[in-house]
Amino acid sequence: MALYHRQLPMKLLLVALGAVLLSSGAPVLAAPLPPIGGNGDPHMTGLQGEKFDWHGYPGESFCMISDSNIQINTHLIGQDGVTYFDAFALLYKIGDSVHEVSFQLNQDVPSDDDANFGIELDGRPLAPDAFTGRSACDNFGPLRVFASPDAGIELSMAEENGFAVVLVVEGLANMTITTDNHDLPTGKHLDWAINWIHATSEVHGVLGQTFQPSRADVIAAAMKVNGPQMQAAEVVEGSDDEYRTSSLLAPDCARSRFGTNPDSPTERVGHVATLRRLLSFVEGTNVFPITIKNAGCASGASAACNFA
Ligand SMILES: *[C@@H]1O[C@H](CO)[C@@H](O)[C@H](O)[C@H]1NC(C)=O
Repeated sequence: MALYHRQLPMKLLLVALGAVLLSSGAPVLAAPLPPIGGNGDPHMTGLQGEKFDWHGYPGESFCMISDSNIQINTHLIGQDGVTYFDAFALLYKIGDSVHEVSFQLNQDVPSDDDANFGIELDGRPLAPDAFTGRSACDNFGPLRVFASPDAGIELSMAEENGFAVVLVVEGLANMTITTDNHDLPTGKHLDWAINWIHATSEVHGVLGQTFQPSRADVIAAAMKVNGPQMQAAEVVEGSDDEYRTSSLLAPDCARSRFGTNPDSPTERVGHVATLRRLLSFVEGTNVFPITIKNAGCASGASAACNFA
């Protein structure tokens, strides 16, 4: 079976144009992120540029994306019906090993401080001085890099400050996490965007369900009628509680797909080479691989993911 491609060439063109403008232009700190993810109050942007505000509730963690080999949870803070992300966790499976990386925003330091994010990999704190590698410029300028080949992960932080981190899990995902400020009450929150993710057609979670090909068709039809701004209830199945996890690092939301096994026995119908690994899929199931690109961002007060 083929990879699932978005059939939106015009949009891809616009994204490409946006990238060109970004790289030729202007200052980087406030650059709008290319797409799919979540940001303040949380403004969510899905695969096709559909936008919806999803609030959850403060003090709890929720599964944003949940698939057999990858799950993204976020923790919310806020008050007066306004919520923001202040922590982000990625759980992922490589072979039989489960790894977890988390980012906790530190409200006590300025956004550009090295300690902006408290980062942990498999339960161990990663201090800024662990970022000893170097990599070429991207939108955030030169990057310093921490890599753990054992855990299949590479983290890159803006060289001059701690406000942005690019997170790449080999063969599974590439995400950008940044920081923004909000008022009422004054504080900072984190925004996250998906550069690419390899998932399956059964992916779920508050945002992840928008990637399911069947859901994407429904959303596309609704957008044709009403445009990209949607109500959360039109996009997110069920209640907020079905997405709540018992902690930032727990995969246990009711809609969780993490740890399910689309690649059991031996027969493979479709497979996708994700760098070195193969995801394989069992005959007789309807699960197939999909690749999401620039598919979603989630941000705070500034609705930063305005690429559409
Ligand atoms: C991850 O995405 C960023 C932003 O699009 C890009 O600059 C970087 O090259 C990507 N890295 C990999 C390994 O895909």
